[in-house]
Amino acid sequence: MKLLQTMLALQEREGWLSDETLSQLAKETGEPLYRLEGLRSFYPVFQEEPGAKHVIEVCRDVVCRMHGAPAFHEELLQELRQDPDVEVREVSCLGRCEQAPVALVDHHHAASNATEVRLALDGQAQAHNVLQAVDAATDPYPTADAHYGMFKTLRDGAADAGRDTVIDELKASGLRGMGGAGFPTGMKWAFTRGAKGGPKQLVCNADESEPGTFKDRCIMETLPHLMIEGMIIGGWVVEAERGIIYLRHEYGEAAEILRRELVRARELGVLGPDAFGPGKPFDMEVFISPGGYILGEETALLEALEDKRGEPRNKPPFPTNVGLNGLPTLMNNVETFAAVPMILQNGGDWWQSQGTNDCPGLKYMAVSGDVAKPGVYCVPMGTTVTDLIARAGGVADGKQLLAFSPGGASTRFLPADKADTPLDFDAMQKAGSALGSGAFVAVAEGRDLLDLATAQARFFRNESCGKCVPCRVGSNKAVAMLEDALNGEVEDGLAELLHELDDTLAQTSICGLGQVALSPVTGVMELFPEVARRLGTKEDA
Ligand SMILES: Cc1cc2nc3c(=O)[nH]c(=O)nc-3n(C[C@H](O)[C@H](O)[C@H](O)COP(=O)(O)O)c2cc1C
Ligand code: SF4
Ligand code: FES
Repeated sequence: MKLLQTMLALQEREGWLSDETLSQLAKETGEPLYRLEGLRSFYPVFQEEPGAKHVIEVCRDVVCRMHGAPAFHEELLQELRQDPDVEVREVSCLGRCEQAPVALVDHHHAASNATEVRLALDGQAQAHNVLQAVDAATDPYPTADAHYGMFKTLRDGAADAGRDTVIDELKASGLRGMGGAGFPTGMKWAFTRGAKGGPKQLVCNADESEPGTFKDRCIMETLPHLMIEGMIIGGWVVEAERGIIYLRHEYGEAAEILRRELVRARELGVLGPDAFGPGKPFDMEVFISPGGYILGEETALLEALEDKRGEPRNKPPFPTNVGLNGLPTLMNNVETFAAVPMILQNGGDWWQSQGTNDCPGLKYMAVSGDVAKPGVYCVPMGTTVTDLIARAGGVADGKQLLAFSPGGASTRFLPADKADTPLDFDAMQKAGSALGSGAFVAVAEGRDLLDLATAQARFFRNESCGKCVPCRVGSNKAVAMLEDALNGEVEDGLAELLHELDDTLAQTSICGLGQVALSPVTGVMELFPEVARRLGTKEDA
């Protein structure tokens, strides 16, 4: 952990990591130079050349693309072309899709048009606008004085048996992981608690980087005490001594808010040397990710925490048994941890009663694309897509809905006639897509779905870590062919080739990125006849 954070601090201070800086670091740390070079070349945040004084990073991904990102990028290039102090570059989703199109000025200041960019360059950036979730209903505390009450009750009231009671309550609630895979949380906590070896490790996955996803940012900025309390309870249950919040580096405001909240939690005695009782320490820290979507994959994240290149591991073993530094590790998403205090306060039955029988609870949905009021909406599981869109002000500009992507870049676009599908892991799967991490993107009539699906594939191509050849080469090849097709050059047999590539990637990729990289593309080919025709799918295929 220390090495990457040192490199990050040097990058921040000097603006790049020169060969001399690396050699000096190798001497000071005793690390072989090739290892430091391997880290520098892997993580996008590290620059091998001195950059311009100011950097403007323009998001190129799907939601920003829908809102004019290519033109925005071009405008900035033209306007700032003569300025040697400014570099304009395209980057992947910045986790601010509700403000699309978005650029980050000097890694910190979000701007949605050229005037805002100019103000930020002149040191007059607008204050960061904290995004409030609509109907956030997962905070059991009426006032700040009551924060951490659930954990204090557990710690002060219960003997060791209380730990198993927490697991039982989580199992009864039916809470499932909100990071995308939907794994039952109670079961994960039980596996980690029961795993051999220790001390147990605890990690919150706050790396949120998938296009359309910004609900974790909203939770961290507005309900940090819930996430931190969920982590403390998790640490207490598995008997860990420290917790790590693994945070994407573009979330500077969230980092500040979380650090302030950690100080407060120490003052309240729920973190620190006696957090779990006299002489029983538990504390937490924020680890700033050196960047890249792949680091959200749980094993790649662990590699980064171990100061290695963030390439996913083969599974099994799973982190619950063999995680950080080979030790059993409990890792959950921000939203998952934040749900825990409420569930324990009101009981598993209460959580069950919030959703449908098949899919209980509440869900924070990040809604963007063609809606009148993009934002984060907290809704009961089982709410229909139609209702969610209505909550977000309806389809923008009074248009008709053409399609929607229910849960993130990997989830297939579904046609508007599926808008009565409930937001529920199983129902979405039955409808041909997935709830994923709850990154909902609405698409209005008039949009080019092939272009949008290609944008998703391009995102995965850009973010592939390169470890598996089929993912690295296949995603690149697919994007090249799709871009040709968008320009009207459709290769013979293209549709069949894309299906074959999709199958190959699904079968041979180590991690979820490669497995789903072409799924949005094959999805639009299967579900939207007009797209299939453009790609030359045979009528009887
Ligand atoms: C390529 C890839 C990226 C991922 N990114 C994230 C992420 O940013 N945040 C997250 O919580 N889970 C992410 N996941 C899922 C994690 O691997 C893991 O399942 C999750 O953190 C477990 O927490 P949960 O059980 O609370 O969902 C990603 C998975 C893959 C395959
Ligand atoms: S599937 Fe892609 S992103 Fe995942 S490990 Fe392989 S190359 Fe890396
Ligand atoms: S910020 Fe552009 S797609 Fe998310």
